Amino acid sequence: MQTRYKTVGVAGAGAMGRGIAQIAAQAGSRVHLYDTQSQAVARARDEIFAQWDRLHEKGRMDATAVEGCKARLLAAGSLQELAGCELVVEAIVERLDVKKAFFNELEAFVGEDAVLATNTSSLSVTAIAAGMKRPQRVAGYHFFNPVPLMKVVEVIAGLKTDPSVCDGLSQYAREMGHTPVQAQDTPGFIVNHAGRGYGTEALRIASEGVADFATIDRILKDQVGFKLGPFELLDLTALDVSHPVMESIYRQYYEEPRYRPSNIAAQRLAGGVVGRKSGEGFYRYVDGKAQVPD
Ligand code: NAI
Repeated sequence: MQTRYKTVGVAGAGAMGRGIAQIAAQAGSRVHLYDTQSQAVARARDEIFAQWDRLHEKGRMDATAVEGCKARLLAAGSLQELAGCELVVEAIVERLDVKKAFFNELEAFVGEDAVLATNTSSLSVTAIAAGMKRPQRVAGYHFFNPVPLMKVVEVIAGLKTDPSVCDGLSQYAREMGHTPVQAQDTPGFIVNHAGRGYGTEALRIASEGVADFATIDRILKDQVGFKLGPFELLDLTALDVSHPVMESIYRQYYEEPRYRPSNIAAQRLAGGVVGRKSGEGFYRYVDGKAQVPD
């Protein structure tokens, strides 16, 4: 399989990095998966391998393809092992200072032509790249959760990004079976900007006591046709990821009142009740299934 990027680094082996590593390996790239928590990489590899085994059982991947993918997905024990990658996709925490520090460290040892992509949900790509030696090699590459199933990826040029970088990322998205969409470098890009009207507003409706969250979810699914209600989506994304996104968009729009984050979300986050991954969010989860109140 000939791909745009033969060797790809993925930093952050959480929900997003895991999915990106999976589809990159499926596209034929050799993938080096790195996380500051080495157990996170081991867990991610186990889960991805199990995913490929399931696809094989369902007849959607042949044995040779599964073997090839498994051989191409490698655990990196240090960030430096990503030195030879033509593309590195960052999917770590949603904090500007942490992402800037990450790219500054990475830039020191990757090749001059390497493309450095951030999966940020809301931060400015221009701000992440500011102060780097080669901001022209940095772009936004915003996937959605779960990555293998959500087929759109926003490709975002920062102020200094070379257009060829975005062209390459768009071509590679297609090779991974995804549809690239060019978005401007604005807070939340397209989906998370439009999504304020879904998540933030639903939290406001619940906090005003108009209806409880399960009713709001049910109505938006049954009557409006959304696949997931806003609270199901918040549980899937997890508040430790989505609340910082809400805060970041609010700040970047100069505290525009309609983007104001919710105290309900802040309090739940403080209490560690973040969503599916903590076993409880707006819903409780038993064996991965939401317990919907009557
Ligand atoms: P997560 O919390 O599941 O995983 C983040 C991983 O990054 C953790 O395993 C953590 O140990 C690791 N990490 C933290 N700092 C690191 C560093 N300096 N170097 C290497 N690894 C590091 O988070 P998730 O959900 O995967 O999100 C990651 C990024 O993707 C965030 O920027 C988020 O805003 C964005 N995103 C999240 C979506 C979602 O629905 N969860 C959707 C689209 C984008």
